[in-house]
Order: sequence, then C-alpha cells, then structure tokens
Amino acid sequence: MQTIHVETPSAKYDVVAGSGLLPELAPRIQKILKRLPRRIFVLTSPEIWALWSERFLQSFHEAKVEPPVTLFLPAGEQHKTMKSAERLLREMVRAGGDRGSLLIAFGGGIVGDVGGFVAAVFMRGIPYVQVPTTFLAQVDSSVGGKVGVNLPEGKNLVGNFLQPRAVFADIAVLGTLPDRELRAGLMESVKAGIIRDRALVRYMEEHADQILKREPKALERVIAASIRMKAGVVRRDERESGLRMILNFGHTVGHALEAATRYKALLHGEAVAWGMIAALGLARRRGTITGAQMERLERLIYRYGPWPKLKVSAVRVLAATGSDKKNVGGVQRFVLPVGIGDAGVVEDVTAAELEAAVKYMLVRARTAEGQGLGTRD
Ligand SMILES: NC(=O)c1ccc[n+]([C@@H]2O[C@H](COP(=O)([O-])OP(=O)(O)OC[C@H]3O[C@@H](n4cnc5c(N)ncnc54)[C@H](O)[C@@H]3O)[C@@H](O)[C@H]2O)c1
Ligand SMILES: [Zn+2]
Repeated sequence: MQTIHVETPSAKYDVVAGSGLLPELAPRIQKILKRLPRRIFVLTSPEIWALWSERFLQSFHEAKVEPPVTLFLPAGEQHKTMKSAERLLREMVRAGGDRGSLLIAFGGGIVGDVGGFVAAVFMRGIPYVQVPTTFLAQVDSSVGGKVGVNLPEGKNLVGNFLQPRAVFADIAVLGTLPDRELRAGLMESVKAGIIRDRALVRYMEEHADQILKREPKALERVIAASIRMKAGVVRRDERESGLRMILNFGHTVGHALEAATRYKALLHGEAVAWGMIAALGLARRRGTITGAQMERLERLIYRYGPWPKLKVSAVRVLAATGSDKKNVGGVQRFVLPVGIGDAGVVEDVTAAELEAAVKYMLVRARTAEGQGLGTRD
C-alpha cells in the first residue's frame, strides 16, 4: 500500500494505491470527512457494479451505515454528456441529496470525469472521492482534478478543476479489466516515465512480464510512480498554465488520431502510444534525444502492444491536429522529451515538422507490423 500526498493551491488530499482498499472504503472515507454524510451517492456503470458491488458495499454494511445511493452511467464516451449530467443531477435531487452530500465516482475515467463534474455543480459543489477501476483512471484521470463532459463539437469542452477529497486505487479491481484496456492504460505510465522518471522507464523495461501478468507488486510500483509524477506536476501547476502541459506528451498527435478515427478505432492509450512515436520522431529530428534513446523508447512502447493498425491518412491526422484545444491563439504547442526522464514544451513546431512526424509514425506503424513487433487488427 502506498500513499501519495497531493497538494495544490486549492486542495490537499491523499491518493492511496494498493490491493484490498475496496472493503475498507467506509472507515477510510469517514476518517477523511470526520463523519459520513447523511446521503452518499456512488456513480458507477452497470458492468462495474455487477462485478464489484458486493466488495464495494462490504464496509458500509460492516459499519452499519446506510449504503450509498447508486447512480448509473452506461459505459462509453457517447454518454459523457451534459444530458447524462443533467439526468444524474436530477436523480440526486430526487434522492434527497443536499449540500452536505458526498459523491463517490467508482469506475473508469469516464465515470470519474462525469462524477467530478456532477459533484462540482450539484448545489454549487459537493465533495467527491475517486475510486478508479481502470489502469488509466488509477494512474492518470482520477488525480489532478480535471472534471468535465464532451460536447458534440469536441471532447472535454465543458468542465472545471475540482480536486477530489481522496483517491483510492484498489489494484485488486484491475483483475477484471480487459487486457486491451490494461495495455492502453500502461501508456500513460510509459509517458510518465519518459517525461519525468527515468527509473520508471527502466522498471517498465525490466518488469514488462510481471506488469502484464498483473502481479500486484509490479502494478503497485508502476501505479504509485505514475501518480507521484502527476502529483508533482499538478502541485506546481494546477490549472495547466505551464508545466502541466508536459503531461500532454504524445497527446497532440494522439488526440488527432482519436478524432480522425472518430473515437472508434483506438482506445485513448493506444492513440497515445502512436502519438508518442510521432513525438519521438520529431524530438530525434530536433536533437533533443539521441538515436539510441529513440530506439530504446520505441522498443518500450512496442513491448506493451500489440497496437491496432493505423487505417488513417497523414492528411486526416494533420487536419485533426488543427482543432486541438490545447492550442493557444493558434500556436501549436508540442511536448518534446529531452533525453529520458525530462521534457519541455515548444511552440515553434512548423507544419513541415509536424507532417514529417506524422509520416514517420505511419511508416513505423507499417514497419513495426512488418517486423512482427506486434500491431493488431
Ligand atoms: N480528468 C483527466 O485528467 C483525464 C485524464 C485522462 C483521461 N481522461 C478521460 O478518461 C476517459 C477514459 O477513461 P478510461 O480509459 O478509464 O475508459 P472508460 O471509463 O471508458 O473505461 C473503459 C471500459 O472499461 C470498463 N471497466 C472499467 N473498470 C473495469 C474493471 N475493473 N473491470 C472490468 N471492466 C472495467 C468500463 O465499463 C469501460 O467499458 C476519457 O473520457 C478521457 O477523456 C480524463
Ligand atoms: Zn492521456
């Protein structure tokens, strides 16, 4: 069990990562809030609830307190909407929610983002706790306080920053996570290592078997390091005015790939895997990493594949980079690794450089496949 303290200008809280947290939820929450609120809501998806509700409710039964009121959000990015949020808010009012209520977001990043958003606006804001159930949510989305929903015009265009009161990442819950979700989520940890934590890169190189076999010790090591990295960045730049941008390594092209394939072909982490390859190509051309470093990092990314084939043209990917909301005043911001374990943000990436990077990525997607490095249909 590891506890990582997160401290930002707006909040202080602990992220606890380890096996067996779920059956201890009620006393742990009680300790943080001093007492359990009269009305607690748990937002989850029907699939997750079917698998884990018994374990989730155990400590509430043991403490002989009223179990949380269950709110459901169906799985899928198409439900991360204002419409879902409104429905959930109305259900909360009808179930007797008030300003003293607590919301627990129990699910992947979608449940976490929507749950945090609902908590941020219900009665002008109530506290919430994250209990992330995907690898991605445990290492990334549950920490840092970005909450929100999508609009038909684009992803995450509505939202706010609201830090959770606590995060409980129970590694045991990952036992039912589909393999593809695990591998995709691991890309956020590879990202964490490349931009900020050399030792994590080495650990993920040396323990890939154990990690992919979900050995709890190995998962805990990677999850804790990834959270620590994010916590360190968010502490210094809560609202993404500078340093926090480095968390977008691999995401400029990654987001473009997701958009160009209409969010259907690739999981987020899979798009980030290829996006990191593109960024490595650009970094190599600029000389911020050596050829040997590029090879080493590419090998690491492929190690956690296989990644889906890319059935998309350079033109479409490049067109999609133009609408990246991370652009400020038309400036194309781009995160480049500097060696292994450091990164910087540059604003002068030319259209030609970006094109070269995307083309490099598409070539690698083909050759990686050709070399049997493991792309998948
Ligand atoms: N707030 C942030 O800082 C931040 C950061 C990164 C991503 N995100 C957001 O996170 C979302 C993606 O999150 P995600 O990758 O967790 O996907 P997700 O929430 O869609 O979950 C993936 C799938 O796994 C299932 N699932 C979840 N936990 C499971 C378990 N333990 N066992 C079996 N199945 C399980 C879910 O039902 C779902 O079908 C996106 O909307 C993205 O915008 C937010
Ligand atoms: Zn990401």
